[in-house]
Amino acid sequence: MRFDRRGVALLATLSLLACAPADDRPAHADNPPGVADYRPGAAGIGDPDFPKDGNGGYDVSHYDLAVDYTPKTKQLAGQTTIEAAATQDLSSFNLDLAGYTVRQVTVNNAEATFKRAGDELTVTPAKPLGDRSRFTVKVDYAGQPEAAQDNENLGTYGFIPTPDGAFVASEPNGSKTWFPNNDHPADKATFDFAITVPAGLTALANGELQGQPTTAEGKTTYRWRELHPMATYLATATLGKFDLRQGQTPGGIPEVAAVDPKFKNGLDKLYKVSGEVTDYWSTVFGPYPFSSTGGIVDDYAAGYALENQTKPLYGGFEPDEVIMAHELAHQWFGDSLTIKRWKDLWLNEGFATYAEWLWQEHKGTKTADAIFNEFHARPASDPIWAYPPGRAKPTDLFNASVYTRGGMTLHALRKEIGDETFFRLLKTWTAEHRYGHVTTEEFIDLAEQLSGKNLRTLFDAWLFQPHRPA
Ligand code: TRP
Ligand code: ZN
Repeated sequence: MRFDRRGVALLATLSLLACAPADDRPAHADNPPGVADYRPGAAGIGDPDFPKDGNGGYDVSHYDLAVDYTPKTKQLAGQTTIEAAATQDLSSFNLDLAGYTVRQVTVNNAEATFKRAGDELTVTPAKPLGDRSRFTVKVDYAGQPEAAQDNENLGTYGFIPTPDGAFVASEPNGSKTWFPNNDHPADKATFDFAITVPAGLTALANGELQGQPTTAEGKTTYRWRELHPMATYLATATLGKFDLRQGQTPGGIPEVAAVDPKFKNGLDKLYKVSGEVTDYWSTVFGPYPFSSTGGIVDDYAAGYALENQTKPLYGGFEPDEVIMAHELAHQWFGDSLTIKRWKDLWLNEGFATYAEWLWQEHKGTKTADAIFNEFHARPASDPIWAYPPGRAKPTDLFNASVYTRGGMTLHALRKEIGDETFFRLLKTWTAEHRYGHVTTEEFIDLAEQLSGKNLRTLFDAWLFQPHRPA
């Protein structure tokens, strides 16, 4: 989905202007412009580092996910409805899906044919789809989820079964382990969730709960809605036994905190600190982008956390203030402003790491400058100097340099342009690209524009050189 600067969806407007319904003429590659030229959508969205992630030829505006999961048997039955618009004349298109048996696919309510190859599901609609036409895809699937594996820094991610439910954390490309989708951050969409679990369990997803959960035949369905565009990796359906606390932050933002009973003594702290951090970041980064905030602590010992939109997820530990500050800073940097290509990941992790330092400065524990100096004093042989954070490597995306040296880049910038311009830059950055997509080049350009300085040397040394900056 594409949004303009004020966050207004452009799709509605586009589909009015787009007067090209699917026509029935055969495809000819040498057709004159304006005449249908049906061909398959690409198997990847065009991220050279992740050639099969996402897909080409269409743009999703909305996912409607129905997921029924039974922890005892580990069986998941799902129906995903996708609202999309073609970006070329399409004879077929792909979705990303890992595992499961696909039972049926329809396009615009007509049965479609499909085939599977690896994590690609290729759908051939009964009638080809004209460029810019809107269409609806429904996929029925079922099976036992298989989580994804990252050998470098993350371990297991995606839909991860736990003894009482599931822990769902999908960055960078694990959402295909639980629903068919266009699995790349370059295509954001709004989401509706209907998650069905055995009665007595709680299902948590992004956004806000829609009405009271309904129970029938021993199963309860929770309906959640995220009405702001969201990258697929930020979607969650974390479920199991949970204790909840709901209300509003002191600043008036609706809030939901949930903890596995094992962590029930931490519920009030999770609730209170998440609210305080959300309110504070709203004064530093600009207005909170979403309709609610909060957090989830589950008993799966991931040892890490993920910034799932509106509800960061902490895996198997009681988060301290600093990690909550990190995950909630991602609501601006990563979730509202989303990268187009994974190589720009420092725009997420460097900013969230710098937010950890800003939080400590705010609390009077340590200044960002003192933290910067400690890291800068690391010997020239330290691995963070060999890895330039401005170009995250596909085989080692979440390297410590992307976090720490990314954060140092922002501090070096702050020293160069001064506090007034630096904090104005952060707010301008989040305002100009709210709900949209960003690149490193755009950040450098804005920093130069607001400061009136040439900053190429600074950014080059901090982001792109394989050695320690002076
Ligand atoms: N983005 C997470 C962070 O806050 C780290 C992360 C990446 C992650 N992929 C994940 C966490 C998958 C959980 C699952 O730094
Ligand atoms: Zn992070």
